[in-house]
Amino acid sequence: MIKKCLFPAAGYGTRFLPATKAIPKEMLPVVNKPLIQYGVEEAIEAGIYTMAVITGRGKRAIEDHFDISYELEHQIKGTSKEYLLTDIRELVNKCTFTYTRQKEMKGLGHAVLTGEPLIGNEPFAVVLADDLCEGENHGVLKQMIELYKKYRCSIVAVMEVEKENIHKYGVVEAKELEKDVFVVSNMVEKPRAEEAPSNLAVIGRYILTPDIFEILKNTKPGKNGEIQLTDALMTQAKTNMVIAYKFKGKRFDCGSVEGFVEATNYFYNKFLGK
Ligand code: G1P
Repeated sequence: MIKKCLFPAAGYGTRFLPATKAIPKEMLPVVNKPLIQYGVEEAIEAGIYTMAVITGRGKRAIEDHFDISYELEHQIKGTSKEYLLTDIRELVNKCTFTYTRQKEMKGLGHAVLTGEPLIGNEPFAVVLADDLCEGENHGVLKQMIELYKKYRCSIVAVMEVEKENIHKYGVVEAKELEKDVFVVSNMVEKPRAEEAPSNLAVIGRYILTPDIFEILKNTKPGKNGEIQLTDALMTQAKTNMVIAYKFKGKRFDCGSVEGFVEATNYFYNKFLGK
């Protein structure tokens, strides 16, 4: 049903400088895997095997990661270390990775629009790798795809966020349709706390119907002079329906040093089997 997942990965990762001077922020490891690999694994769990990655200058390590490394694999073949590459090798064999470069940083909406040739005319998922999610029972994307089967419209994942942090997110105003499922009536990108329509913040998981591309082409720059996906979704909500889904699980803001360290501690404990 949803066959492709878009990964906007062109951003500079300035919050992690100097670590991200020569390494894409998506390649920073949480324990022993780069951030973007967690997102790809979440997509696979949701039955998606085509990854459309929006990269930019200085992001070649992402392409190399999702490819065979002949020299390395030859070196460790038959040694006790071979198993360390088993998972990533399987992942690479299962999936197709397509790439295009976003030449200028004009916002998330622009990044998604850049992916149009890779997606075509079909509904698709979007993962912002910075938001590292661990679903309860099922991954967040899989939960959203189940919901898509029922409603066939764009879906944004939301969570409740305390007032002092709401200005960092797209925020929805929405009416409950069923438990944890809301119809969006308004959406604001990064509002001031006193202007936020609710405490429901959008996190980096979306299912989008392909009419979003035409809408994005006609979306004027919004907050911070960038083309905002939030604004395009608001247009879609007016003419069609957009759903906000309060997902079941955890989310770590790996775009911030604090969230990154939190994720590292959490996944390290899991790694140790605690
Ligand atoms: C983007 C979106 C925002 C969303 C957030 C989730 O912002 O524009 O609506 O709430 O991702 O992480 P960014 O954090 O990339 O500035």
